[in-house]
Amino acid sequence: MARPASSMRSQITALGNWVDKRLPVSSFWRDHLSEYYAPKNFNFWYFFGSLALLVLVNQIITGIFLTMQYKPSAAEAFASVEFIMRDVPMGWLIRYMHSTGASAFFIVIYLHMFRALLYGSYRTPRELIWIFGMLIYVVLMAEAFMGYVLPWGQMSYWGAQVIISLFGAIPDLGFISGESLVEWIRGDYSVSDATLNRFFALHVIALPLALLLLVMLHLTALHQVGSNNPDGVEIKEHKDPDGKPIDGIPFHPYYTVKDIFGVGMFMLLFAFIIFYAPDGGGLLLEHDNFVPADPLVTPEHIKPVWYFTPFFAILKAIPDKLGGVAVMGLAIVVLFLLPWLDRSPVKSIRYKGWISKISLVVFSISFVRLGMLGIGEGTPAELRESQVWTALYFLFFITMPFFSRMEKTKPVPERVTSSH
Ligand code: HEM
Repeated sequence: MARPASSMRSQITALGNWVDKRLPVSSFWRDHLSEYYAPKNFNFWYFFGSLALLVLVNQIITGIFLTMQYKPSAAEAFASVEFIMRDVPMGWLIRYMHSTGASAFFIVIYLHMFRALLYGSYRTPRELIWIFGMLIYVVLMAEAFMGYVLPWGQMSYWGAQVIISLFGAIPDLGFISGESLVEWIRGDYSVSDATLNRFFALHVIALPLALLLLVMLHLTALHQVGSNNPDGVEIKEHKDPDGKPIDGIPFHPYYTVKDIFGVGMFMLLFAFIIFYAPDGGGLLLEHDNFVPADPLVTPEHIKPVWYFTPFFAILKAIPDKLGGVAVMGLAIVVLFLLPWLDRSPVKSIRYKGWISKISLVVFSISFVRLGMLGIGEGTPAELRESQVWTALYFLFFITMPFFSRMEKTKPVPERVTSSH
């Protein structure tokens, strides 16, 4: 006999209560979703945090399935990837979701970071959100680099050769030398089976664990201080008699619904690329990587995948090897310092002066243009242009403490504006 619906419901409630006494499920739901108040003026730029989470989950799940068929040895790696592509049911889909997913990750992350630059989301009290974000970015770069080595194609092999040898630029300091460091990283006298094995271990477990931990810290720090918004005003400064921010709305259901829309649009675009241009014409998966690694044949033109090319262009722009490596490292380190370089009395670009606006535009163009130059063949004209954009890239950070403090800003409204 069927049980009446009301008795079923009361049993589910009883089970819920039983769990709740032992695990803080409903208080977690309340604190972080249904009673977590987010500013009501989020716009397009606020899609990318939840999309970054989605892409992270995609990489982990597709990665687990790839690992079931992939063989981490120099003798078998390339063939095992071809096996996945041709013989494993849906293997091609899983592989492209993962390889194209890596590029999607960087697109989402670059837009997510750009949003922080637009609205000053790295400023007090959100410095730690930014620092954890930057650590995520660095770990993500290592993760992507090691992943690209795994198919053991020509670009995997020679890319690894070039990038690892950069550490060789470090001079002999007595306790450590560049050469010994390079050997230690490779685990051999050249890039070999040993290198592939350790990169596999780092790529499938160590770095994903680090990423997950950092994402947890990133979100915990975010929920501690609350989200910034396009006006850069603190919603916690205006609360109603119940202590709720007047300009805040519960994250669930308002922003869960908004984010589902973002997820839908993203999935449409992502599916389009996977089904119609999974290698992005050689931009997402380079043509040379469809040729098995050969230590005796150097590809004509070794270059990293697009998401590294801005830094690769900076590296090549400096004629000296050690200098190039140092300046490239500095290009990343300087981003960590942003919360302390920006001295503006206002956070959002909406209320900053024209120097901030022009500087941000020039900086963004320099990053994109360096990315394009990094893909190029490295002709003398390209190198000269890279030097100009590298100078402009750093000029943004060097001049920021001065122009951000001195320029005339617009008055910031007391409360968020929702007409934008
Ligand atoms: C796996 C990578 C990442 C994930 C899953 C992630 C996730 C999120 C989420 C869900 C939010 C809240 C929603 C939003 O504001 O869009 C957020 C906010 C934020 N993220 Fe990330 N993030 C990642 C990487 C980064 C990186 C690389 C940076 C910068 C270097 C960064 C900087 C920020 C900042 C500053 C905020 C606060 C934004 C505001 O309140 O206006 N995040 N992140």
